[in-house]
Amino acid sequence: MKHPNITITTYCAEETVTLGNLIGKNLKSGQILALIGDLGSGKTWLSRGIGEGLGISKHHHIHSPAFDLIHEHPGPIPMYHMDFYRLDDFSSEDEMWVTEYIHSKTGVCIIEWANKFIVDFLDNYLEIQLSMIENCITARKIDFFAMSNEYLPLINQLDVDFSLNKETNKS
Ligand SMILES: Nc1ncnc2c1ncn2[C@@H]1O[C@H](COP(=O)(O)OP(=O)(O)OP(=O)(O)O)[C@@H](O)[C@H]1O
Ligand SMILES: [Mg+2]
Repeated sequence: MKHPNITITTYCAEETVTLGNLIGKNLKSGQILALIGDLGSGKTWLSRGIGEGLGISKHHHIHSPAFDLIHEHPGPIPMYHMDFYRLDDFSSEDEMWVTEYIHSKTGVCIIEWANKFIVDFLDNYLEIQLSMIENCITARKIDFFAMSNEYLPLINQLDVDFSLNKETNKS
């Protein structure tokens, strides 16, 4: 079994958005986040925070692209938000457009349900697994797996920033 580089627990949806914001602030064009977790585990809320951190305008509401497969959000660093939950077959056309986004260095790719079809096409990405915690309906365990060294600085920074943010909000 692979071990996460770090695990962060959030205790409410807003905290997951804050975590996303801290991720977004440290992302660079060309980076890819594969979000994996059950229905309602918080992938879209995390994506919303990532969009905030990237500086996507508040007028550009980030919601699930499950029906359209992809939403492009323009911004200082554009966000290509994908969701493969509703896709049953991955056609060669799908492979073509997905590959184009994945290799584009013009924005970041945030991919919900990346475990369906997509991870096989990726070799350099950050995997984020979200899961519910028993007995606490608003808690989420969020595991980070850097699939290449490129993501280690981001993860280390996130660990520091999230703890600092918690401390600041306490006092
Ligand atoms: N700690 C938490 N983090 C994120 N969401 C939380 C948390 N606690 C409760 N929630 C709630 O869980 C739900 C998460 O929904 P969200 O759409 O982000 O899930 P999802 O993983 O994207 O699901 P789907 O696979 O259907 O797209 C929201 O209703 C949110 O209010
Ligand atoms: Mg979602």
